[in-house]
Amino acid sequence: MDADQFREFGRAAVDYIADYYETIRDRPVLPSVQPGYLDDLLPKDPPQSGESWRDVLQDVDRIIMPGITHWQSPNFHAYYPTAQSFPSVVAELMSAGFGVVGLSWIASPAMTELEVVMMNWLGRMLELPEQFLNCSEGPGGGVIQGSASEATYVGLLAAKEKKVKDLITENPQLSEAEIKGKLIAYSSDQSNSSVEKAGLLGSMKMRLLPTNGQGQLTADTLQEAINKDKEAGLIPCYFVANLGTTPTCAFDNLEELGPICNREEVWLHVDAAYAGTAFICPEYRHLMKGVEMADSFNFNPHKWMLVNFDCSAMWIRDAKYLVEAFNVERIYLKDQHKGLAPEYRHWQISLGRRFRALKIWFVLRIYGVEGIKKHVRNQVGLAKYFSALVEKDSRFELCSCSMGLASFRLKGDNALTEKLLQKISDKKNQFLIAGHLNHRYVIRYAICSRLTEQRDVDYSWREILEAADELVPRANKKLIIEVAEKQGLLNIETCKADKSVEKTK
Ligand SMILES: Cc1ncc(COP(=O)(O)O)c(C=O)c1O
Repeated sequence: MDADQFREFGRAAVDYIADYYETIRDRPVLPSVQPGYLDDLLPKDPPQSGESWRDVLQDVDRIIMPGITHWQSPNFHAYYPTAQSFPSVVAELMSAGFGVVGLSWIASPAMTELEVVMMNWLGRMLELPEQFLNCSEGPGGGVIQGSASEATYVGLLAAKEKKVKDLITENPQLSEAEIKGKLIAYSSDQSNSSVEKAGLLGSMKMRLLPTNGQGQLTADTLQEAINKDKEAGLIPCYFVANLGTTPTCAFDNLEELGPICNREEVWLHVDAAYAGTAFICPEYRHLMKGVEMADSFNFNPHKWMLVNFDCSAMWIRDAKYLVEAFNVERIYLKDQHKGLAPEYRHWQISLGRRFRALKIWFVLRIYGVEGIKKHVRNQVGLAKYFSALVEKDSRFELCSCSMGLASFRLKGDNALTEKLLQKISDKKNQFLIAGHLNHRYVIRYAICSRLTEQRDVDYSWREILEAADELVPRANKKLIIEVAEKQGLLNIETCKADKSVEKTK
């Protein structure tokens, strides 16, 4: 393919994407294909000679699009947002177009340099303590990882390196293997699965401690766990605090947990994967009070900051522990600029690096900080609006509302809410997922797409009500709620019985 054909192909692809966004609201969010569907539609072997790009693009529409889950649809309310914006898409295109891999400063100076500046911009936007920034006097700095999972894992490896070094310095008779076998990490039972995975990958036992009724880990629980483990001869090493849990966007209190970590010499990593973007707005910064006690902090611009996946911003108070953990030199990696700019390959798992900073730069230049604040506030407002709708209907219970995420359930047995979610999912018009809060089954409603408006929330609510009406008929609503309140529960059989009574009327 020559440059002229690329121009044609590229323009057609951009048009295709623009058309996609103009029609996305009308598409069912969930695809109707079955596992293995694509295998039947594709030839068993690749083509021997090249085909026309027009045929390829047609096949995207014919066989790929039917298998796409429309994450950017205004009716996508599952998980957390995975950001998309046109400036970011263009940055991805340019990054692919340059085709550079930043394995050292000289491998593409603009890559490292832009990353340094972008991490400082982001750090200042969040008002992170200066000690974390690349421009600070100290050894701190920021780096773009691929995901929050990587950041949590990288933090764990750095914590391990530090703990082993510190203990061997204090007690030279201890062996590295002896120490490593006793290390232990902590987080809450509300943590993302990636936290537990970091423990598995890093061969460190991870205790997921119980939370209070609000999904927060209390200082007493952490201190108790540390005390018990120390008594048992284990060595507390790493703690992951949540600022915005996955199930309900709950916030651990860093002001209470931080001093414990600092006193016990436990590395404090903060996972603010989703909610970190909100700290750009001054009204939410109180939720990260105590962050100066953290050893590392991470949030995902690829979740809520309109930067396409993947882009995860991580700061470390003392980057030397990372560099010491990951520094493997080879003659082919040496360059004469050593020490004048960060060699980010020592801050991450892989050697090669993508030009992710370009996406942050494009998004910040084109939206501006005010544009991002507006986006966050708008989505928080929509979640509040949804919560108000839930609260208006006494068949429902609003279980949480934090940032752009609400969770709710039908009053009564968990089975009733499970059925409700099944009915909603069967229609494929919106995508919601379940969560657990205080051992109860809840449905999460996250405002994800930047395209979601109040009319989309109204649409969601109408669909939820339609499904709920089949389970808890409105005509008998009052009676059922009275029974539920008296019995402290409403079981599904009661509802079915009620429905049949209604039919015979
Ligand atoms: C709180 C939290 N931490 C970590 C993650 C994992 O993010 P990533 O996909 O960037 O690894 C998620 C994903 O939703 C999350 O909600």
